[in-house]
Amino acid sequence: MKHLTSLKDKDAPVGVFDSGVGGLSVLREIRKQLPAENLIYVADSGYAPYGNRSVDFIENRATAIANFLLSANAKAIVVACNTATVVAVNGLRSWSPVPIVAIEPAIKPAANRTKSGVIGVLATTQTIASPTVSRLCAMYGSNIEVILQPCPGLVEQVEQAKIKSSSTRQLLINYISPLIDRGADTIVLGCTHYPFLEEVIYEVAGSDIAIIDPAAPVAKELSRQLYNHNIASTQNRSGTDQFFATGSIAHVKRVTSTLWGKSVEVYGLPQLYSNPTQILSPCYNENFNLWN
Ligand code: DGL
Repeated sequence: MKHLTSLKDKDAPVGVFDSGVGGLSVLREIRKQLPAENLIYVADSGYAPYGNRSVDFIENRATAIANFLLSANAKAIVVACNTATVVAVNGLRSWSPVPIVAIEPAIKPAANRTKSGVIGVLATTQTIASPTVSRLCAMYGSNIEVILQPCPGLVEQVEQAKIKSSSTRQLLINYISPLIDRGADTIVLGCTHYPFLEEVIYEVAGSDIAIIDPAAPVAKELSRQLYNHNIASTQNRSGTDQFFATGSIAHVKRVTSTLWGKSVEVYGLPQLYSNPTQILSPCYNENFNLWN
């Protein structure tokens, strides 16, 4: 399989993936901060939410999608999914020949910002239960109260583009009201699907609430890595956006177009990378290392 990225390949694409359409909230920040980069996005919507899946399943999907992105000549990969990060990023980093940038709940900035001393973290059950979140709480949450709130069902609502529906609002009331009652003044969005619900979150939590979304710092970190490795795009025209997905392509096209704000084409992920029973080994080529 061809997936070599040469050091001269500055106009190779950046690959970005999520369990579904949520990572588009990260992609839009990348597009804003890095207008010249060519971007490839993979929505693994056929298997969303990852939160209900086993560790092996998520690791297998992350490996398959990373292999696909490398086959498309990606020069860097962004894991735009907190759940895939906490489960699979160490594995990916152990073999990937290109830089991997990942997202995790922004507990540190929230802890620095809170005045009431209480912050709420909204995330999937899988992310909330992860050692990564325990570590972040131990590092930055010792002088404040951190309320960890799993939010089953919210990813599915966004996957269905039910952004302002009464069922979505009711879920948000259920998850956010206890945080407000306990004095939280800051809410961390620990899942990339949730920024699309920001308007309703403000309505439910009140406009004084501070909402922390790590998408912008992730895009900044990507930019830093591209510059450090001397692989930032040098083209002086706008980069391209390409979308791939698993599951119903017509559905993902509709939802992606809604969330992305313009009509886009979505292509099916090739069968080799979309079949979860196909165990792909990491596609690492020893002859190639970006840092050599
Ligand atoms: N957008 C993913 C995240 O940031 C959702 C995970 C899931 O599908 O459970 O965690």
